[in-house]
Formats: sequence, structure tokens, C-alpha cells
Amino acid sequence: MKNICVLVSGGGTNLQAIIDAQNRGEIKGGKVTCVISSKEGAYALERAKKADIPSVVLPRKDYNDSKSYSEAILAELDRRKADLVVLAGFMTILDECVTRAYPYRIINVHPALIPSFCGEGFYGLKVHECALEKGVKISGATVHFVNEEADAGAIILQGAVEVKNNDTPQTLQRRIMEDVEWKLLPKAVSLFCEDRITVKDGKAYVDLEK
Ligand code: GAR
Repeated sequence: MKNICVLVSGGGTNLQAIIDAQNRGEIKGGKVTCVISSKEGAYALERAKKADIPSVVLPRKDYNDSKSYSEAILAELDRRKADLVVLAGFMTILDECVTRAYPYRIINVHPALIPSFCGEGFYGLKVHECALEKGVKISGATVHFVNEEADAGAIILQGAVEVKNNDTPQTLQRRIMEDVEWKLLPKAVSLFCEDRITVKDGKAYVDLEK
């Protein structure tokens, strides 16, 4: 059974999607054993509590820089013996001390079709504002491995939605979450836990046959 640690910063709807999938028996080979929040009072912590999942708050604001914060996260992950780290709406970029310690063992959900609207500064609603400003007709979400560069790790799964003429950043965000993120993130977690993701030449391949 793989030990899954989920890192959150906000509402935690993606965490909820993983918890719901787990309760339906859809996460084979893994179990969420810990939720780590970068913000006190994040609603994601309530979701963890309701699901009887231990949680810990490591406030980003208590640390001077990304390196010292990342070292604290790394110590917590090591202490929890994490096999898989899931960034589910985690709004802090982790320093390479974490990504190097957990190569191809950290996955993130990004609310756009990478390589569009991604990288430093693209997070949350901002991503959807930029997509609408550009006038794209399709957007979506990407689940990918996390490496030293923001949103640049190997892509595991992607899903698309149509952008509507009257979309606001909020309506587009909601459609992408409902139609793509809440389905693909638990699916990627399950694929990882069943050892159905392989990486070759820096690219991820999913074994859909098993
Ligand atoms: C989600 O849309 C997620 O893709 C995005 O923030 C939202 C968090 O929602 N993540 C990023 O922008 C990270 N770069 P949630 O807290 O309800 O899961």
C-alpha cells in the first residue's frame, strides 16, 4: 500500500475528489495518510478532518524563503514516509531539495493545457483570466510530475473543455475542475499507486491495458 501525502493551500476540492475516489475503492494500491496545508484555516483541512485523515499546517508565511520552507516540507514528508506526494491546489513552488528527493514521486494538477498558461505566476483564477484574455477556444487541466522547473515535468494526463463566449474566469475554472481536474487527479493517483506510469526519456507513459 503506497503512502499518499496531499499538499493543499485552499478550498481542497481536488483533495475531496481523491477522498471520494478512495471511498469508492477507486484508488487501488494507495491510501491518503496525511494532508499538509501551507495555510492555516484552509477549508481543505476541514475536508481532511471529516475524512479522518491526519493533517498538519506548515504556514508558508512563517518562513523567509522558498528554501527554508521546502526543507520543512521535506522533513515532514520524510517523517510521514511518503511514497507519493500530491499537490492539490498547493500554491507554493517547491525548491529542488524536495523535487530531487522525490523524483517522479510528486504529481501536480495544473488548471490549463500545459505548455499553455503555466509556469511561475500562473496559478488559480489567474490562469483562467489569461486564457480568456487570449481568446482560446479550448482549455483544460494537466496532471504532471513535478521537477525543478515550474509546471515543466512529464505530463501524465490531460483533459480539455470548450471555452464559451460568455465564460468568466470563475465559470471556466468551475467547468475545468468538474469536467477534468476532479476526474483526472484521482485517476493519476490510482495509476501511480498501481505502478502503471512509466517514464522514458523524460516523458510519462500510462499503461491503460492492465
Ligand atoms: C485548482 O483549480 C488547481 O488546479 C489550481 O488551484 C485550484 C485549487 O482548487 N492549482 C494551481 O493553480 C497550481 N498551479 P482546490 O483547492 O479546490 O483543489
